[in-house]
Amino acid sequence: MTKMKTHGLALFAVLPLLAMTVPVQAQSVIGSGVPASTTGNSQERPIGFTEQIPATTALVILTRSAELPDVAGLSEAERNAVEAALAAEGFKGNQGQSLKLRGIGERPLIMIVGADQPDERGPDWRGAAGSAVQKLMKEEAELTVVGAPDPAAMADAALGLALGQYRFDRYQYDVEKRPASQKVTIAGNGASEAQTLWNGRNRNLAEGVRFVRDLQSEPANALYPQSFVERTRAAFAGISNVSIEILDEEAMRKLNMGAIVGVGQGSPRGSRMMIVSYRGASGPPLALAGKGITFDTGGISLKSNTGMWAMKADMSGAAAVMGATLSLAKSRAPVNVVAVAALAENMPGANAQRPGDVVRTYGGKTVEILSTDAEGRLVLADAVQYVADRYKPFALVDIATLTGSVGRALGDQYAGLFAREDSVADQLMNAGEKSGEHLWRLPLHPAYAKAVRSDIADVKNSGVTDAPGASAGAHFIGYFIDESLPWAHLDIAGVDWYSSARPLTPKGASGFGVRLLDQLARDWKPE
Ligand code: BES
Ligand code: MN
Ligand code: ZN
Repeated sequence: MTKMKTHGLALFAVLPLLAMTVPVQAQSVIGSGVPASTTGNSQERPIGFTEQIPATTALVILTRSAELPDVAGLSEAERNAVEAALAAEGFKGNQGQSLKLRGIGERPLIMIVGADQPDERGPDWRGAAGSAVQKLMKEEAELTVVGAPDPAAMADAALGLALGQYRFDRYQYDVEKRPASQKVTIAGNGASEAQTLWNGRNRNLAEGVRFVRDLQSEPANALYPQSFVERTRAAFAGISNVSIEILDEEAMRKLNMGAIVGVGQGSPRGSRMMIVSYRGASGPPLALAGKGITFDTGGISLKSNTGMWAMKADMSGAAAVMGATLSLAKSRAPVNVVAVAALAENMPGANAQRPGDVVRTYGGKTVEILSTDAEGRLVLADAVQYVADRYKPFALVDIATLTGSVGRALGDQYAGLFAREDSVADQLMNAGEKSGEHLWRLPLHPAYAKAVRSDIADVKNSGVTDAPGASAGAHFIGYFIDESLPWAHLDIAGVDWYSSARPLTPKGASGFGVRLLDQLARDWKPE
């Protein structure tokens, strides 16, 4: 463009060229412009600790047997009445058992909740507290929780309360529906130690999980790539040792990230890549990469309508890596992590990519797109190559709602785990056991790699083959990851959303991955 004198003819000749190179997707007005809510979720029960049991609150007694704990805060007459009721009910203190009693003494309510798990797994104070608080959602009384025997158990019970009482009600205009928000206090010996434990870790873990559930629950007219970035940036504001890098479409195009930009090109909402690093230790980082499709219509390979609304949560992996990093950073954990969210909206449209298109990824490898609905692996192809190249991690874990196939294989109790090496799988399996977010290893058999071989590009993103779908997806991502980099792939398409409540999770967004990845980062150190 050195000789750009305004010579009529020359300008005319240059115009078609300009039209070819200037991107055509920047539309500015999005949606109706009327926000469906301008508030946050309603207030919840604040959580505290105390040594003394208040006299007039509703009492929640956690127990792992038919016996009431010594410090139950009951007079002898009350205790006798409760014990008679427990005996009549055949209460054994098992997980899942509970009994609500009214009309005993001065208290508005006494509730006894079982905490004992089968198979000598010991008591589950988290789960017992979580289910209790859910059952008391509408109880307009202050709550006192007793029975957790030591400070660690008390801090665990607090985590259960924080996760169990989660709600997503910011779009419910009718305030009559609001659950109770009187405080809940955990009473027991060592309350100040419990408070310190809570502040040091579990409180931040709960914040991370709740941050993720909020993002998962948000409808896609409110949560799109740029608003994901803004909300995540706000969550990290003011935390030290955190740095944030954002790539917009122009930046990604310059970096030859044809895959993620291609997925988003049918949407007026621009794609983004967000990278958050938290440096709480020296040495190379653990990299976490998450699929962040803020809505997955399937694109030109359009999905059917049944259940399509759930695709607002197709950004669960991206939210999980940010939520885990948030938890670690807020806890000042001695770890070095870098989280990358690959954010795009997968829409059909005149400018959408088509089946048969070929795109170039960050590192130069090319992909033939057989289905525009296999978009998660495309956005991750650019993200994993970029983070490996720029941040030199000692290991990389990606997490994605990648395939319906994993849900059919494992249901909603396990996420699918894929790893090349047993030692890497062990790291993940252990973190799963410790965190309570369970994984089941699935095969990366070399034969299944055939599913992603292309006739005209380096790989294709799907195809009609006999290979199991979740394994084919894992192989596709693995194709972009150097054999020398320890790598695991987590397919969370079956566990991101629960169709009914669990002790730590009301029906809906699970926040899966935060507790798992927080644990993993604390335990997995570079050699
Ligand atoms: N986001 C979906 C996977 C999904 C399905 C998540 C159900 C949660 C619940 C993903 O992008 C997808 O469409 N996968 C395809 C892959 C296929 C085209 C190779 C699938 O699973 O059918
Ligand atoms: Mn899809
Ligand atoms: Zn998807």
